[in-house]
Amino acid sequence: MNATSHDAAIALSPTVRYALHGQVAVLFLDNPPVNGLGDTVRAGLHAGIERARGDASVQAVVIIGAGKAFCGGADIRQFNTPAATARPMLRDVIAGIEACAKPVVAAIHGFALGGGLELALGCHYRIAQSEARLGLPEVNLGLIPGGGGTQRLPRLIGVAPALRLIQTGKPVDAAAALQAGLVDAEADAPLLEAALAFARERAGRADHPVAARLPIDAAGVDFDAVRAQLNPKARNVLAQRAAIDSVQAATRLPIEAGLDEERRHFDELVAGDVSKALRHLFFAEKEAPRVAGGTAAASPAPIARVGILGAGTMGGGIAMACANAGLAVTLCERDQAALDRGLGLIRKNYDISAAKGKFDAAGVEQRLARITPSLDLNDLARADLVIEAVFEDMAVKQAVFRQLDAICKPGSILATNTSRLNIDEIAACTARPESVIGLHFFSPANVMKLLEVVRGARTSAEVIATCMAVAQRIGKIPVLVGVCEGFVGNRMLTGYWREAGFLLEEGASPRQVDTALTRFGMAMGPLAMADLAGMDINWATRKRLAPTRPAHLRYSKVADRICEQGRFGQKTGAGYYRYEAGSRQPLPDPVVDEIIEACAREAGIARRAVADEEIVERCMLALVNEGAQIIDEGIAQRASDVDVVYVHGYGFPATRGGPMFYAQTLGLAATLEKIRALQRAHGDHWKPAPLLERLVAQGATAF
Ligand code: NAI
Repeated sequence: MNATSHDAAIALSPTVRYALHGQVAVLFLDNPPVNGLGDTVRAGLHAGIERARGDASVQAVVIIGAGKAFCGGADIRQFNTPAATARPMLRDVIAGIEACAKPVVAAIHGFALGGGLELALGCHYRIAQSEARLGLPEVNLGLIPGGGGTQRLPRLIGVAPALRLIQTGKPVDAAAALQAGLVDAEADAPLLEAALAFARERAGRADHPVAARLPIDAAGVDFDAVRAQLNPKARNVLAQRAAIDSVQAATRLPIEAGLDEERRHFDELVAGDVSKALRHLFFAEKEAPRVAGGTAAASPAPIARVGILGAGTMGGGIAMACANAGLAVTLCERDQAALDRGLGLIRKNYDISAAKGKFDAAGVEQRLARITPSLDLNDLARADLVIEAVFEDMAVKQAVFRQLDAICKPGSILATNTSRLNIDEIAACTARPESVIGLHFFSPANVMKLLEVVRGARTSAEVIATCMAVAQRIGKIPVLVGVCEGFVGNRMLTGYWREAGFLLEEGASPRQVDTALTRFGMAMGPLAMADLAGMDINWATRKRLAPTRPAHLRYSKVADRICEQGRFGQKTGAGYYRYEAGSRQPLPDPVVDEIIEACAREAGIARRAVADEEIVERCMLALVNEGAQIIDEGIAQRASDVDVVYVHGYGFPATRGGPMFYAQTLGLAATLEKIRALQRAHGDHWKPAPLLERLVAQGATAF
């Protein structure tokens, strides 16, 4: 901050400094990156307030953060560790502030989030810079504020606005905070000076507001109605319910009892599997874009113009994602009709978004103006990055890449959106294999967050770094994967679908398989998903891989038989289910039941009642076992990346953290035991992944 403060500063703890500015004591929080309220920050704050209370020359206190923000809240790295519960707790720190007769001012820049805002709520006054954001985002991690936020906020700004802020977890800016009464002033001078002036002015007053002692008025708030509006499928529904209960407790109980009630809810949530899973994902998503090892040093090249080849399902969605992020796009097709169809769909999708209020009509035009249609591949010459999304056929892709290699400027990146083809074989037909990479988007590409960035054997570190950066720029979570059949996500599906097929033969119906898995939390069952994706794609893959499939590994013929009848899923009106014209509603089909029974007979299987638990266990463990193999082979950089892939690309429930995290909640030893039992009962496709065996032998509890 300024020179005098540094000169006279005393370190109260490794992360908190104390300095006198005339008659105002300033407490500097300095715990990078976001001044999280770890044990040393709490201890320093507590000591600082005590010191100011005991110094007769001090008339007021300012708490301010060093670095980019006031305070980002609890130090979530310390959750479930002894440091998290070391005294003083945030509650003790705030009790000290509230007991202080001298005014304490929170000076907020950057953001005050979670425990950071709760600390500020415990102060007598809050002053914020105009660009600061204030919020209680705990529900996003399956938690509620645990430092008095649910008790003080409704007293300070009113019950209904407080509920909104806590339940949505969305921060507000300083202007909105000022209007709501959450802050007392916006700082127009440099923050410390403004806070010092504010503190001096307030020091002259006889007494100072304490949020915990303000009266609370619940008139007009119908808590049962708020509960009734909860979406039971929301990933944080438990936390939202606890938030409502805690705010209601604030309206009924004295402050101390209300704080106890809040803490009880918080402790229950923090120890629960759902919040653990959501916190795991929070870190997993932050980690995913990082390139491990040497490539980390490479810096991304600037990307201004993206060329997209193919304006079909994927090309159109990718063009939208890029245009949304302000990138210039050249969208190239092979004939006018296909181009018109693609552009028409893009406009229609944008109009739907505008109708939903995501942007206005001018926003639609702005985005469309960024997309230049073309029928001439030569128009891609200037693109910094070309993403190919033509038919899934190696010969077609290679022909296209040869042309692109000849046309595109040196250094431009040539990417393919292939979902299963070998990137290295595509790269090999160019003179620049170091610039060739896979960018595997998920459908609909303008919506789905996941992007598998597929590094070829010769892809350069700079090209990888550039693609990881551009992915984030267009709002995706990139996961770096290696070349293999199906990369991470689709490769794991093979075993998942294999089990679903066996379960049908053994006695389950398509609907039972899908319902068991949607009850588990999957957004869609595997068979309904196959119908949506198109069963012909897997059929082609099975035919392609047939020559390399080991003879002793049986697979269910059900899917092949369904395809042989021309039933490819929704697009043909029938697959595992039948669909009425214009409907996406899967309906059971006796034709499929007959196919299943015939396949079972041929395979010599006596059909039986299959329990839902068995369906979930076999389908999940198939994902887990293949996931472990993928990690072992280095196809994924880390286990948490596999979780990100499944949650953001395949509808895996976030509340279970992803397949690898789910295995950890089952226990790795228990997981291995179950897989071994399945191997004994069903054969060698259940061979346990060696990584899992090694980890269990070492007594490890995580991948
Ligand atoms: P699509 O059939 O909807 O679109 C392909 C488009 O490419 C067509 O409009 C076609 O006219 C155009 N095209 C073909 N050859 C061309 C050429 N030489 N020059 C310019 N345009 C050409 O196919 P879709 O579904 O968009 O798939 C494209 C790629 O994306 C495939 O490799 C597919 O495996 C992959 N993919 C598809 C996903 C999906 O869910 N549909 C998901 C992830 C990847």
